[in-house]
Amino acid sequence: MSIMTDLTRMWLTRSVRPFLFQKEYDQLLPFEACEELGLYVHIPFCKSICNFCPYCKVPYSEELCDHYVDALLGEIRLTGSQAKKQKRVTSLYFGGGTPALAADRMKEIIGTIGEYFEITEGIGAELHPDNVTVPVLQTLRDAGVTRISIGVQSFGKKFQKLLGRKPVDAAVLKEVLREVPFETVSMDLIFALPGQTFEDLKEDMDTAFANGANHMAVYPFIDFTFTSSPVSAMPRKEKRRLLDAVTAYCEKQGYTRSSIWTFSSEKHAGYSSMTRDHFLGFGCSAATLLKDQFKINTFSVPAYIERIEQKCLPTSLTLRFTRRQRMVYYLFWTAYSTKVSSRDFERFFGVPLGKMYGLELAAAKLLGFVTEQDGDYRMTPKGAFYYHYYENFYTLSYIDRMWGLMQKEAFPEGMKL
Ligand SMILES: C[S@@+](CC[C@H](N)C(=O)[O-])C[C@H]1O[C@@H](n2cnc3c(N)ncnc32)[C@H](O)[C@@H]1O
Ligand code: SF4
Repeated sequence: MSIMTDLTRMWLTRSVRPFLFQKEYDQLLPFEACEELGLYVHIPFCKSICNFCPYCKVPYSEELCDHYVDALLGEIRLTGSQAKKQKRVTSLYFGGGTPALAADRMKEIIGTIGEYFEITEGIGAELHPDNVTVPVLQTLRDAGVTRISIGVQSFGKKFQKLLGRKPVDAAVLKEVLREVPFETVSMDLIFALPGQTFEDLKEDMDTAFANGANHMAVYPFIDFTFTSSPVSAMPRKEKRRLLDAVTAYCEKQGYTRSSIWTFSSEKHAGYSSMTRDHFLGFGCSAATLLKDQFKINTFSVPAYIERIEQKCLPTSLTLRFTRRQRMVYYLFWTAYSTKVSSRDFERFFGVPLGKMYGLELAAAKLLGFVTEQDGDYRMTPKGAFYYHYYENFYTLSYIDRMWGLMQKEAFPEGMKL
């Protein structure tokens, strides 16, 4: 499996040099010159832990969560105070874990961020369905949250049981969301579970949109090697049939596809923390992407708090990109939004996209993976499936290995990917 990603990496970066993550960090982060900068904050607490979940999370306790948020404010100040003046950023997303468990401190976190950053496109937060209550939603709204994403997974009892989660009552979601509305209400659904049919998924999608969602993320189930879930991934052909059927159905319904996995029923609705040119991540496991480097914070809550108490940034690993590596990273994540613009690429790198990857783009056009109009490349449904297919390899060869190691060691010696 990793042979495929290794060969692709060598070919696209025109080099045998791997992505080299080292145990090193800079106390100063050169983010002031970065345009299109997004912010991400990780809250790693959950009331119960799901055995299929790869994210950095620990069981919730009020005391630990408070202690963690104090450290988080420290990290925001350590980084934010490096800017000479308030820095404009696009968006702020709270991910987890379950960020809504820290709803009572959200105003303070957003206020501290506001001392250093001006957010121009809104604030998003993830919730577990149990958090969808009027008081929690009202607290999030009062703090400035404009978009929420709810981890539904499925409205089907059978699939919730398979995932070890409780059933979700759609009527309750609808009632609460009617009382406390948000600009975007996204719901996460998981597909490619054993025995799942298109009818099951259609039922889930229809239920989501009929009960308060205007956006949804339909994630393929991924069987990470370091998680202990007994559920295994669906075979490739069956998965493709399902993905194609979902895409065709969403197109027929007139939904907008904003990324490989996301669809919205209203044009203005959006929820995406990943497709940014640059981002700053705060909290355990949060990643930072700047012009020429990628950093990832420690996954350990105690080690994170300790570092901040020493007034040091909690970076665990740093990757310093070669120029071509940065291009590949840029293209991979931009393609996630299903379109790549030659103009944006050239503005970012100062060199034409056609000059760097003309051959690959011509081949992609010929194979029917993309269409081109005035230098804008759009992925076809066939391209989207192959991107998804490749992304699965990428997830298993890169994210699985890296997160697996980071969950074991707070500050590993390094890693080659
Ligand atoms: C941080 S959780 C969302 C909020 C909340 N913690 C919850 O679970 O309801 C992020 C989402 O990742 C997705 N996810 C987690 N593990 C996954 C896996 N193994 N494969 C695919 N998607 C997964 C789920 O859809 C989940 O809602
Ligand atoms: S899926 Fe959500 S609730 Fe479950 S462990 Fe992961 S972050 Fe926590």
